[in-house]
Amino acid sequence: MCGIVGYIGEQDSKEILLRGLEKLEYRGYDSAGIAVLNHNGVHVFKEKGRIAVLREIVDASVSAPIGIGHTRWATHGVPSKVNAHPHQSSTKRFTLVHNGVIENYNHLKRDYLQSVHFESETDTEVIVQLIEQFVDKGLEVESAFRETLKLLKGSYALGLLDNQDQDTIYVAKNKSPLLIGLGKGFNVVASDAMAMLQVTDQYVELMDKETVIVKKDSVTIKNLEGTVIERAPYTAELDASDIEKGTYPHYMLKEIDEQPAVVRKIIGNYRNENGELTVDSDIRQAMIGADRIYIIAAGTSYHAGLVGKQYIEKLANVPVEVHISSEFSYNMPLLSEKPLFIFISQSGETADSRAVLVQIKEMGYKALTITNVQGSTLSREADYTLLLHAGPEIAVASTKAYTAQIAVLAILARDTARAKGIDIDFDLSQELGIVASAMETLVDAKEEMEQIARDYLSTTRNCFFIGRGIDYYVGMEGALKLKEISYIQAEGFAGGELKHGTIALIEDGTPIIALATQENVNLGIRGNVKEVVARGANPCIISMKGLNEEDDRYVIPTVHELFTPLVSVIPVQLISYYAALHRECDVDKPRNLAKSVTVE
Ligand code: F6R
Repeated sequence: MCGIVGYIGEQDSKEILLRGLEKLEYRGYDSAGIAVLNHNGVHVFKEKGRIAVLREIVDASVSAPIGIGHTRWATHGVPSKVNAHPHQSSTKRFTLVHNGVIENYNHLKRDYLQSVHFESETDTEVIVQLIEQFVDKGLEVESAFRETLKLLKGSYALGLLDNQDQDTIYVAKNKSPLLIGLGKGFNVVASDAMAMLQVTDQYVELMDKETVIVKKDSVTIKNLEGTVIERAPYTAELDASDIEKGTYPHYMLKEIDEQPAVVRKIIGNYRNENGELTVDSDIRQAMIGADRIYIIAAGTSYHAGLVGKQYIEKLANVPVEVHISSEFSYNMPLLSEKPLFIFISQSGETADSRAVLVQIKEMGYKALTITNVQGSTLSREADYTLLLHAGPEIAVASTKAYTAQIAVLAILARDTARAKGIDIDFDLSQELGIVASAMETLVDAKEEMEQIARDYLSTTRNCFFIGRGIDYYVGMEGALKLKEISYIQAEGFAGGELKHGTIALIEDGTPIIALATQENVNLGIRGNVKEVVARGANPCIISMKGLNEEDDRYVIPTVHELFTPLVSVIPVQLISYYAALHRECDVDKPRNLAKSVTVE
């Protein structure tokens, strides 16, 4: 969470920084700021609220060819102007932006900075004060920067300005993402290439505990001992149009609509010359060699993992456990003899998942990351990567990444089954093609979904999603979507579990969204619906053609029963979208959330 940008060159930096921050707003949006440096010194503009608010207070008459910027998701200290970045040292010589968490900031304050007055409640201010203190003791700025970094425990991506030096941005990274973008006569710094695609598509990755001296004509990467590191740039394969909303009112709606195309793209990217959907042979070998798979993920990605478990167990006959990453790291189950870990993460940056990856790598185990972001931390640090090819997902609520994760897990399971000589009685490529067509029908059903949102959710306080088997997992995802963007309290339950306690919450009119796409539990889930209706609930049944009954509210086209989550999730995504819209919520940037959760 939090996004940082920097620019050094010949143009005025303000607009480049602001536009960059707008592209990073998905990483946090409770306050924002920029600092620009010119011959008159440093000028800091910061404010509580979105980048649009910051824009209004930036003094248009100040022009400066060097600057840094930050959009914040608060960790230490409430969202406020004073806690917004950039932060400055006591004399205001140094100005800093930071993404990450300094775990030992209180100890550092106590041990080194007792006499310093702090303006903010942030952990960041400790860093900038330490740098100034090392400089006061006679160190060069670069050495002071490195000495400070050696004291920090935790995660950081940093951009530092020295108002006595108009030629340099000092940069460092540990555990939080950061890239250097290269231009002709300018260079930039960004948490994500998307932010600076406006000026360059050439980027250099940074590794943990590296520092960079960024000047307008040069970029020098060093380790904490000061040794220079050479690294070639790469071209960011992002299309500028991928990161625009186009004619859509919200990114979330655009990303829901993109799902059929994403599934088709995945089919194309994973198809081999024989028309089979396959993964790299080293991934296949790792799958075959494992006696148990441990899927580690958070939020929506965890929900995709639950579906993936069904695929790997049913198709490839390998036992799978699915774990929430923040729980796994300190409550590790007994592991099997030959485990393989699969990390599922849209962003590839989720700190909770990364903590597990670091742990299991130290234990000597292999890891596969399934992610949307090439070169992300979880991808770089795992042994293998499978990409989602979903294009940038910008709305905070994940939609197309979820369906892409499930499609890629299906391919992984299918290919493992093939390698193990297990007969599968369907052609996955064909089945996913049918799924993509069904998805097209569903994304076109916006009016029906909007009406469902009106009929069931316009005034309700809460809502329950129920299902059995694989439908239960989609229900969990539906509940997460609804609560995160509309703030309606929503929970997903296994249909049979309601009567063991939760049914006490059913009142007259309580909306129940029931998913009925599985033949073996169709009667069961319909029985559960009757139980809640008898207690006053207002049921909305979403079923699959062939299993539907007269009063079902919406019937999805028939797809293979294993792949119904790819299709049945679309109605719940759209219903959640319209419920949020009707309540005038900020669909793309729900309160208290951020897209990339880079703090544990
Ligand atoms: C919900 C949502 C989150 C993420 C979770 C994990 O719509 O997007 O629950 O799924 O924060 O993020 P990734 O997949 O980036 O690891």
